[in-house]
Amino acid sequence: MMETQANETLKGILVGCGFMGGMHAQIYKILDGVELVGAVDGRVEEAKEKLDSLGCPTRVFATLTEALESVECDFVDVCLPTSLHEQYSVEALNAGKSLFCERPLALSVESADRILAAADANNAFAQVGQCLRFWPEYQRLMEYHSSGDGGKLLSLNLTRRCARPSYGIDNWLNDASQSGGAALDLHIHDTDFVLAMLGEPNSVSSRVTRDFSGPVHVFSLFDYDSLIVSSEGGWNYPVGWGFQMAFQAVYERSVLDFDSSNGKGLMICEGREEPRSLEVEAPDAGESQSGEGNVSDLGGYFNELKYFTDCLKKGAAPEIATLADARDSLALALKEIELGESSG
Ligand SMILES: NC(=O)c1ccc[n+]([C@@H]2O[C@H](COP(=O)([O-])OP(=O)(O)OC[C@H]3O[C@@H](n4cnc5c(N)ncnc54)[C@H](O)[C@@H]3O)[C@@H](O)[C@H]2O)c1
Repeated sequence: MMETQANETLKGILVGCGFMGGMHAQIYKILDGVELVGAVDGRVEEAKEKLDSLGCPTRVFATLTEALESVECDFVDVCLPTSLHEQYSVEALNAGKSLFCERPLALSVESADRILAAADANNAFAQVGQCLRFWPEYQRLMEYHSSGDGGKLLSLNLTRRCARPSYGIDNWLNDASQSGGAALDLHIHDTDFVLAMLGEPNSVSSRVTRDFSGPVHVFSLFDYDSLIVSSEGGWNYPVGWGFQMAFQAVYERSVLDFDSSNGKGLMICEGREEPRSLEVEAPDAGESQSGEGNVSDLGGYFNELKYFTDCLKKGAAPEIATLADARDSLALALKEIELGESSG
């Protein structure tokens, strides 16, 4: 298991330089004591140009094998289409590296379990990009919930809706055999958050609509004794509709509302008072923040990678968004698809 000495720079290899890889590269650039020493992408020239244009130049290799042979690193960050997560994660873990893998961890529980087994066999540190656990408004909701300030939680609704993603290389996102469709690529965020906040539900019921891209719109109810959680996610909206992630948590004495599409931020309404803003903690890049754009725009993406790299620097295993957490979220999301289609 890797442990970085104080003052030593943590070195990473980024695998996949598309949308998410580009985001991660920019974050590593502003994290103190972290350096991208190489990248891997099937489209070597395009990846090189992209990383250069983002101000994150590094050597780009066509395969992870080649990168691991050529540069020393502490961790590997997998930002590839989901159907490739297992192959590259297992290769990184078997090479003795720590792993950050984008979510969903895999397309099947069996595949996720093989990644967990490789991590166990190599006594490796790993974290998965279930970023809502690090998203400021969602973290604040969990904190408020734990405080008990609002009294009992009566209901929770989570929503994630957007236009069909068209940016994926070779349109892989609209191919369920590579992405799992909206159910695994979009809705799983809220499934994971429900598990993080409330644990396993007593029972689940779902309805799912399907199109050429697989399970495209999911409507689920999670039953927790006296509490019902509803969660809806779909990406079959017109392009002009944009993106929305939202929640509403109704407590005995308050309501917390967040809707990314209304620009109001996290709101709380208590008793007869007008709804007011509830402050959330902005991501903190420390001294390295200066001159590198607005870190708060990077939200949970920044927070999760800061947490991951801080854990590695301390020689401690990440305890949030672990491989086991991600496997459980995947299992529940797959159950939602199965129930949703069998009841339709
Ligand atoms: N956490 C989030 O909110 C979030 C958001 C978007 C995407 N993701 C996840 O991030 C991962 C990557 O998605 P993306 O949106 O960046 O996709 P993308 O299509 O933008 O990028 C994928 C990259 O992988 C490269 N690639 C494909 N096959 C390869 C191979 N065999 N070897 C080497 N490189 C290869 C492509 O050339 C491309 O640069 C997916 O698992 C996706 O679900 C997570």
